[in-house]
Amino acid sequence: NTARLILDTRRRVAPVPRRLFGSFVEHLGRCVYTGIYEPGHPTADPHGFRGDVLALVRELGVTTVRYPGGNFVSSYRWEDGIGPVDQRPARLDLAWHSLETNAFGLDEFMRWVRAAGVEPIMAANLGTRGTAEAVDLLEYANHRGGSHLADRRRDNGAADPYGIRLWCLGNEMDGPWQVGARTAPEYGRLAAQTAKAMRRFDPDLELIACGSSHSSMPTFGTWERDVLTEAYDDIDLISLHAYYQPVDGDLPSFLASAEDMDRYIDAVTAIADSVGAIRRSTKKIMIAFDEWNVWYQSAAPSTPPSGEDWPVAPPLLEDHYSVADAVVVGGLLISLLRHSDRVTAACQAQLVNVIAPIMTEPGGAAWRQTIFHPFARTARHARGAVLDALRDSSTTATDRYGEVDAVDAVSTWDDSTGEMTVFLVNRSADTPAEVTVEVGGARVAGVVECVTIGGGDLDARNTADGPDHAAPRPNGSAHGTGSGIGLTLPPASWTMARL
Ligand code: AHR
Repeated sequence: NTARLILDTRRRVAPVPRRLFGSFVEHLGRCVYTGIYEPGHPTADPHGFRGDVLALVRELGVTTVRYPGGNFVSSYRWEDGIGPVDQRPARLDLAWHSLETNAFGLDEFMRWVRAAGVEPIMAANLGTRGTAEAVDLLEYANHRGGSHLADRRRDNGAADPYGIRLWCLGNEMDGPWQVGARTAPEYGRLAAQTAKAMRRFDPDLELIACGSSHSSMPTFGTWERDVLTEAYDDIDLISLHAYYQPVDGDLPSFLASAEDMDRYIDAVTAIADSVGAIRRSTKKIMIAFDEWNVWYQSAAPSTPPSGEDWPVAPPLLEDHYSVADAVVVGGLLISLLRHSDRVTAACQAQLVNVIAPIMTEPGGAAWRQTIFHPFARTARHARGAVLDALRDSSTTATDRYGEVDAVDAVSTWDDSTGEMTVFLVNRSADTPAEVTVEVGGARVAGVVECVTIGGGDLDARNTADGPDHAAPRPNGSAHGTGSGIGLTLPPASWTMARL
């Protein structure tokens, strides 16, 4: 296979939205407890935050973290998680059939967010609760003081308001599995009303309405249209969620998962713009892809407990990722970057232990899964502006998406440093690809660094004992000059080339 990529530093899609490199912490399984928070762990700080996990979160380059759910938020009472820990109630978590101790809540999360150096994205419960409780949460979090709830925050040790700007108005409200699921007009009305109330406190908040839970929901499309018809003027972003896994061992389609992400983003953008056009609005609704990842949903660890069993922080959704999964995650990041004129926030779901790039053992080690690597490299090196690449590639056949480009790619260019980075995926499962990258508009340094993951044992995984077994390795094929490079991509691989 061959591919040609033509780039010009003057032809740009948009500045790289730093919020594209977000993640997600839900009260689910071991994401919070024995994930980011484990008092008594050898690396824990006085607040109980695991130091080894914090170091990996910083290395991952995460910019935002969505909290506290997910399905969990739809029956959560945020007040349970504030005040003296020994007086907080234990509650049944109806989403994941677990016992929530509430030892970790909003104030702990905000302390952790500061330690991690990330921006919070706060989700409000619009399942079992409504506008009043969302506004109460906002007052507690963001009002400076002098009101009942702001003074409670101050009494709980946080004198300064948290200044949380980005808010999710509920979670997956179209899903029958969601506690308090609604129809699109019902939810759209509630989201609009809640957004209006929140804006009376602060008109500059950035508010995300729930889109569909995934693009194959029976209501996909009409859901977005009806929600936006109610809430277009009141919200800023609409959410998309998507999880991918190989179906019946179909590797070629799995490697081309970004094809689905591209189509999904393009479809929601078109629907949002059509609602805007009908309203003769000049406002554009942006996209928050606030849950995305590879998730083996049919695997056993995804099944929550049942019956009389309400465990605290059980191991749930603990996928152990392979090299093939890392290639797909790299491809999904390429799709997000390519759409950075409309996708201005995204969250990989989730951060630790639960379908996560970082794994931990209670009381023991923390390590990087394979999917950690493309995320960390992309977050670190996708800087400046996304370029509008002209791509001409051989195709490869997939059962699910038909013929697709064998080589998918995106590139960024940083005016301030003169650095260009190209991210590429070879989606052919069995054929290498010879790629040429031509650069106009500026001269580049030649090959500064080129690394690849894939092309060998696609099933390799990392473990606590072999934490760096599967990671990107230098790709020695890359060669070039100031006006471009050539390189070889092994079959089923993800590559980052810095020029
Ligand atoms: O991330 C796991 C779950 O997937 C979330 O709780 C939910 O929003 C989605 O269905």
